Amino acid sequence: MGNDFKKEVLSRRTFAIISHPDAGKTTLTEKLLLFGGAIRDAGTVKAKKTGKYATSDWMEIEKQRGISVTSSVMQFDYNGYRVNILDTPGHQDFSEDTYRTLMAVDSAVMIIDSAKGIEDQTIKLFKVCRMRGIPIFTFINKLDRQGKQPLELLAELEEVLGIESYPMNWPIGMGKEFLGIYDRYYNRIEQFRVNEEERFIPLNEDGEIEGNHKLVSSGLYEQTLEEIMLLNEAGNEFSAERVAAGQLTPVFFGSALTNFGVQTFLETYLQFAPPPKARNSSIGEIDPLSEEFSGFVFKIQANMNPAHRDRIAFVRICSGKFERGMSVNLPRLGKQLKLTQSTSFMAEERNTVEEAVSGDIIGLYDTGTYQIGDTLTVGKNDFQFERLPQFTPELFVRVSAKNVMRQKSFYKGLHQLVQEGAIQLYKTVKTDEYLLGAVGQLQFEVFEHRMKNEYNAEVLMERLGSKIARWIENDEVDENLSSSRSLLVKDRYDHYVFLFENDFALRWFQEKNPTIKLYNPMDQH
Ligand code: G4P
Repeated sequence: MGNDFKKEVLSRRTFAIISHPDAGKTTLTEKLLLFGGAIRDAGTVKAKKTGKYATSDWMEIEKQRGISVTSSVMQFDYNGYRVNILDTPGHQDFSEDTYRTLMAVDSAVMIIDSAKGIEDQTIKLFKVCRMRGIPIFTFINKLDRQGKQPLELLAELEEVLGIESYPMNWPIGMGKEFLGIYDRYYNRIEQFRVNEEERFIPLNEDGEIEGNHKLVSSGLYEQTLEEIMLLNEAGNEFSAERVAAGQLTPVFFGSALTNFGVQTFLETYLQFAPPPKARNSSIGEIDPLSEEFSGFVFKIQANMNPAHRDRIAFVRICSGKFERGMSVNLPRLGKQLKLTQSTSFMAEERNTVEEAVSGDIIGLYDTGTYQIGDTLTVGKNDFQFERLPQFTPELFVRVSAKNVMRQKSFYKGLHQLVQEGAIQLYKTVKTDEYLLGAVGQLQFEVFEHRMKNEYNAEVLMERLGSKIARWIENDEVDENLSSSRSLLVKDRYDHYVFLFENDFALRWFQEKNPTIKLYNPMDQH
């Protein structure tokens, strides 16, 4: 394979966009795809999101909820890079898969609505990226509207997320008075809403406008210069190493809707975003440039159409090259599989993939073989990649079989779906009731649907609402401490977990039981 293979791998940029719903993820994605020539018309991704573009009847739920396999991974080429954008479904489609997708990327782009600042879902997704130490690039969106002051937004990054920032550019005004951005990185001004020829104004070393260029301004530029001075003196220094370690986030300002600042962002991002990185496994680090194929399953999307039981297992390639028809090992089962049915992901259609390398994502048609976290290897290799973390569920239901005559199917389905990673299972201490935990409501709906259609087992689910789940440090506890406000359960590995009704119950419990050390696995890294 040699040099060409290495070049291919090093050209990969695989990332996810993390944001709170409505911050502009779809709009930004669409603009990126337009630059990459992956779609021809603006509105394609958007229409998919709203369901107007349902060309696939592959999944009932895909149509109903607009969750689209086709937009799960979007690939395009730009400036010699091959870009893979992985979708992180949010809001009503938020699920553990959203978190797991972040296990398969090498960096993340965080979009923030300039008027709203940092919101809930962004915090959750950020934490997962933090846990992995991957680089995070920030795009502050909607500068064409009146929003918070840029300095205030930087302070929020630091205070709410605890990450230091380096603004690569800085807005000149905002809303109706938005004139553009002062680009610290390229040392130029990029003007908003002007002819293409006038878009860039070069600056000299002192940040003064060069030549005869003029910026129509009513004191806004002066204010920007003052702020830039402040940033130069009191702000963080740029450090590519700290960006790569996820300790410093480069910040870009722009407006996705008006396509302003997006290209500048993309081009700078591609320079600093990392190519595929080595991953830990049971035999040490696996080099992405190693020529033997390996990968892991990070997501399984089940077909909700009862006529088609097939599922798609999403595999992140971690080393080597995938070729259609190749045989791989599934070390968990000690089995060999021939990968004939595979798919790649383009923005407008699903194509059969013939070849893919480290950093790429492939979809494998699956009839129930794979589980989330499965490693695939070739030849004599039978290592396993590090286990995917357990994500702290926030929503719980009590679950039982609707029909007692179908208990056997119920248990079979329950255990298989739990093992596959579709949902988390808990058991109350003493009373031995089954609880399901999820990070989003969608997981319960998919569970219910699949139990009925795949296992012919209808389920009863009694909502317990949201709970704060905390594990116990040495896993020892007096079971009598269980109460309705601090319910003690065991997870599927038999570890104790308290489910607290709310923050107050958690604090109250901690005060009463200071010797019990509680923890959230998602805060552990
Ligand atoms: P999401 O995927 O993160 O949920 O956000 P999406 O891109 O769908 O954007 C949410 C709303 O914000 C949309 O408006 C979109 O047009 C708007 N938006 C995105 N980027 C910008 C921007 O840079 N400036 C302004 N002013 N608005 C922006 P909507 O009214 O909800 O939808 P639509 O009717 O416009 O499609």
